[in-house]
Amino acid sequence: MPIIEARGLTKRFRRPVKPPGLGGALRHLVRPRYEDLTAVDGIDLSIEPGERVAYVGPNGAGKSTTVKLLTGILVPSDGEVRVRGIVPFANRIANARNIGVVFGQRTQLWWDIPVREAFRLLGDIYEVPDDAYRATVGELVEVLDLAPLLPVPARQLSLGQRMRCDLAASLIHSPPVLYLDEPTIGLDVAVKARFREFIRTMHARRGLTVLLTSHDLGDIEELCERMVMIDRGRIVYDGPFAELTRRFGYERSLHLLFSAPLPEAERVIHRAIGERAPVIIVQPDETSVTLTFDGRETSAGELIRDLATALPVADLRIEEPTAESIIRKLYEGTLSFDGADRSDRQAIRT
Ligand SMILES: Nc1ncnc2c1ncn2[C@@H]1O[C@H](COP(=O)(O)OP(=O)(O)OP(=O)(O)O)[C@@H](O)[C@H]1O
Ligand SMILES: [Mg+2]
Repeated sequence: MPIIEARGLTKRFRRPVKPPGLGGALRHLVRPRYEDLTAVDGIDLSIEPGERVAYVGPNGAGKSTTVKLLTGILVPSDGEVRVRGIVPFANRIANARNIGVVFGQRTQLWWDIPVREAFRLLGDIYEVPDDAYRATVGELVEVLDLAPLLPVPARQLSLGQRMRCDLAASLIHSPPVLYLDEPTIGLDVAVKARFREFIRTMHARRGLTVLLTSHDLGDIEELCERMVMIDRGRIVYDGPFAELTRRFGYERSLHLLFSAPLPEAERVIHRAIGERAPVIIVQPDETSVTLTFDGRETSAGELIRDLATALPVADLRIEEPTAESIIRKLYEGTLSFDGADRSDRQAIRT
């Protein structure tokens, strides 16, 4: 049985449209106008217990709105959502017992209260029995190395320290589900690594279900086996993370370095490769050239063979797209999920 289930989940926001200037503001007072913005647009999502899912998409795609619908902070405009069988907005308190939430941009700690007291308060709020509280906090303090931070009020913590305390705070009541919304934003490499290690440990020990929103590809690659990508409120991809590079990683770039300057390499190359499937040629200077081609249509080996006989090649290198470049193109819309490469191939030249 899925632990998180959404069907046709939709959230529309009504926003006032104010014409500019004082006149506009006055006109808005007399006759207010609004526009509807659909932030989340009919999302179907089913997550099994213990899954770690990356929820990604460009800015404004609707990721945080979805997380807020799952926590019950927002009420859906349409559709259904259940977390562990509970409708979040209708039963926020019961839902809160099942979930931990970390918003990287905000803290759930109290500014002036030492971390230790904040943990205690959260334990009380969630009515965690004493034994369980001691065991859980003991474990979290150990794994996140929080002992030196316990007497410190939240406002004196560095961003990375605050993040570690926030993570612990979100798990004090041992929820089976953890939502992480941009948890590593602004953190340095060492703290990020520690964060990822911690999530892996908690997943292994508790079978935690994780929904992670992040623009950091490292977070996604290291933590999640499944990726859900949304764009303008709709799911455009839902599948194994690794599938992405299998499915879109067909573009190859061949970089050639010449042993002597060759100002007209492009013409020579065209003659050498003849009527092959499209190959984009970019010559940044007289001593090198880059060819971009579709690995499904053109064999790199044949290409190299033909070019090596026609050109004074001193060195060569083949590049495959990284997951990062694929995701960037999907965001930009230059790569699409219908299989076709929507980009004007010429545009890659620039
Ligand atoms: N309370 C609100 N009132 C009106 N519009 C909102 C509200 N919250 C979000 N939106 C709009 O809904 C859309 C989705 O916002 P959301 O915060 O879910 O995006 P996101 O995917 O989390 O983006 P980011 O990567 O920048 O965090 C945006 O266009 C945003 O302006
Ligand atoms: Mg967001």
